Amino acid sequence: AKTVTYDWNVTWVTANPDGLADRQVVGINGKWPLPVVEVDRGDRLVVNMYNGLGDKNTSIHWHGMYQNGTNYMDGPSMVTQCPVPPGASITYNFTVNQNGTYWYHCHTDSCYPDGYRQALIVHDTDSFFHDDYEEEFTITLSDWYHHMTEGLKEQFLSLYNPTGAEPIPDAFLFNDTMNSSLPVKPNTTYLLRLINTGAFVAQYFYIEGHSFKIVEVDGVYTEPTEADILYIAIAQRYSILLTTKNETDTNYAIVTVADSDLLDTIPETLQLNNTNWLEYNKAAPHNKAVIQAQTSDDLDPFDDFTLIPHDRMPLLPEPDVVVNLTVYMNNLINGFNYAFFNNITYTRPKVPSLFSVLSSGDLSTNPMVYGTNTNPFVFEHNDVVQVIINNGDTGSHPFHLHGHNFQVINRAPGYGPNFNSYLNGDPVPYDPSNHTAFPKTPIRRDTVVLPPQGYMVLRFVADNPGVWFFHCHIDWHLSSGLASVFIEAPTQMQERLTIPADHLEVCRLSGVPFEGN
Ligand code: C2O
Repeated sequence: AKTVTYDWNVTWVTANPDGLADRQVVGINGKWPLPVVEVDRGDRLVVNMYNGLGDKNTSIHWHGMYQNGTNYMDGPSMVTQCPVPPGASITYNFTVNQNGTYWYHCHTDSCYPDGYRQALIVHDTDSFFHDDYEEEFTITLSDWYHHMTEGLKEQFLSLYNPTGAEPIPDAFLFNDTMNSSLPVKPNTTYLLRLINTGAFVAQYFYIEGHSFKIVEVDGVYTEPTEADILYIAIAQRYSILLTTKNETDTNYAIVTVADSDLLDTIPETLQLNNTNWLEYNKAAPHNKAVIQAQTSDDLDPFDDFTLIPHDRMPLLPEPDVVVNLTVYMNNLINGFNYAFFNNITYTRPKVPSLFSVLSSGDLSTNPMVYGTNTNPFVFEHNDVVQVIINNGDTGSHPFHLHGHNFQVINRAPGYGPNFNSYLNGDPVPYDPSNHTAFPKTPIRRDTVVLPPQGYMVLRFVADNPGVWFFHCHIDWHLSSGLASVFIEAPTQMQERLTIPADHLEVCRLSGVPFEGN
């Protein structure tokens, strides 16, 4: 294993990835698109970040990294660290003991839709499929806004948006550009790593004339499973093996289709269907895909619930703790829109929740210490935790848990187009008496889609002492409070975790009172 070090000066730069509008984006060392972070399993990753934005706090989350023993390197502001103010620096330093496809993104207020997000790849020469492919490509899919996130968020949360309609993107990017080409050789197998790095909109993905095999979801290897169409919600990842054809006289469209169900209005200028190229031959025609589907409802994607993890880890035993959460959107407080878990809209605390664990001694097992507005749940070390989420809302929500993957042991039926199976009546809550048989080897992932008006049931073991954010990854919904903090093994945290000095200095500079533990 080696140490991989990056020195990042984060500043505003101008970019125009869709060719339609110049805008300010968050650049690293004067450049955007941002660098893809690449490490091998077992490496230490060190990122020295200087906040040169001048007018904005920032921080970086390493989405999907378990941060076992390094909870303070996780990145979300006021959960595990203080926001890094302009002119300040922070060092992220942790060992990567996992494989697969991840990403990094800003995690302070709303900031990653301003372009501060990119792939993080953990290479694994020992993977069971490593000898099955010759080359690999990473593909990011992302919605794109021409306006700064801050202003969009203000409008979204304002009195002038009583229906809670989310800001409509202006474009959809593929590797931070449009109409790109992946040059391929005939008769060759490629590993494609797909990541939705957007803020809001899930996307369907397929390649004309080709099917492929899924081998990874969110860092978890799966039994190779044939599929034609994927539905990739915000923050989700898939690795697929794609074998090319023998002939090189045709180029094939790589088609992405935005999930129109998420959009309250669809402006005529917005292209929901985009064509990129699996390019066998530069000289052959590149014919824009003829998309038969009128809307994304006509596409029938692969259902991730049916995947089997390659390690065949069995269903976890009956839970020690059950967390019941119900999602409600667009409940007005004084005319403003908020999102709720049960009856609580997440509001960030005055001191990062992790610091409250470390300074509260014996009281740390009492959720009240963290403030009810953070929606805190406290687990004991090695508890089996079951999370039941019911959706009182008519939209789907991609939920992400930091520091873990979880088993998805039940979910309301239907996926993609059939997601809407419960939309014609009242929400259908999870009823345990109807569901006694769970999959024997359930799929695990770190971001899962909760169906409209439906439910899902997740299980994980609280074996990673830390404060872990659990939230809807639609950035607009996070900003309206659809979040909770899971406080896992507080006593073990007090024994094992010491906040690094530079992180304490960041707190001093941002005016957060904390002296250390
Ligand atoms: Cu990508 Cu809080 O997450």
